[in-house]
Amino acid sequence: MDVLVFASRKGGSGKSTLSAHLAARVSQAGYRCLLIDADPQGSLALWHGLRGTGDPALRKSRSGISDILKVARRDEYKWALVDTPPNTSAAVVDAIRAATLVIIPARLTVFDLAAIRDTIEIAREYKKPYAVVINGAPALRDNTESQYVTEVREAIARLNVPIWSGQITNRAAYSLALESGEGVTEYDAASPASDEINRLWTAIEKSVKAIHGAYGGAGMHRVAA
Ligand SMILES: Nc1ncnc2c1ncn2[C@@H]1O[C@H](COP(=O)(O)OP(=O)(O)OP(=O)(O)O)[C@@H](O)[C@H]1O
Ligand SMILES: [Mg+2]
Repeated sequence: MDVLVFASRKGGSGKSTLSAHLAARVSQAGYRCLLIDADPQGSLALWHGLRGTGDPALRKSRSGISDILKVARRDEYKWALVDTPPNTSAAVVDAIRAATLVIIPARLTVFDLAAIRDTIEIAREYKKPYAVVINGAPALRDNTESQYVTEVREAIARLNVPIWSGQITNRAAYSLALESGEGVTEYDAASPASDEINRLWTAIEKSVKAIHGAYGGAGMHRVAA
């Protein structure tokens, strides 16, 4: 079983959004997937309630996820996706310690970029592979990302921080789908939002395979030194 942990000290960066859309995508692919809501705000649990199908399964955790993961491994889940609160509490550290890959969503504000450092520090401390995913970005024009996104991307790369080459654009579809208990790949499979989630999922799958030794170890992530 592989564990994806969505973490960032910054509130509103997109942890719950990405974990819900990706969970729907993973489920659609037919994988056994467990969602763990480790955030007392309970955004993911709220979405799961709206969804009402019980698929993927969801567990709430307030004090560590290791027991939940132990049972999930025994039950032969292939993926566990963990949403965490916007802080660097013991619960977040516990989740990162259990991660195969840490996904750090970041919006393009100075505050978000400052906040990701704290989360990266934890991933580095526990030598966990991690990658930043740009969220809420301006839409591409003529298939080209905005100059601002390129500049932020370069600034992050200069800090020697791995970053996904794609972007999650600011789109109403991301919240509309969640309000109806779906992921965008279910809500409108032909939409640009669905395309972005598919691309992100492909990059995550590739990274996880690389973490397990495929592709000479190369993926969007980096194993923290
Ligand atoms: N790409 C996007 N396009 C449009 N709206 C978005 C996008 N990503 C997130 N949002 C919206 O931004 C808000 C914050 O997103 P989300 O709840 O996923 O962040 P979070 O990191 O989980 O926040 P918290 O730290 O408070 O748990 C939500 O209202 C969500 O619908
Ligand atoms: Mg959240």
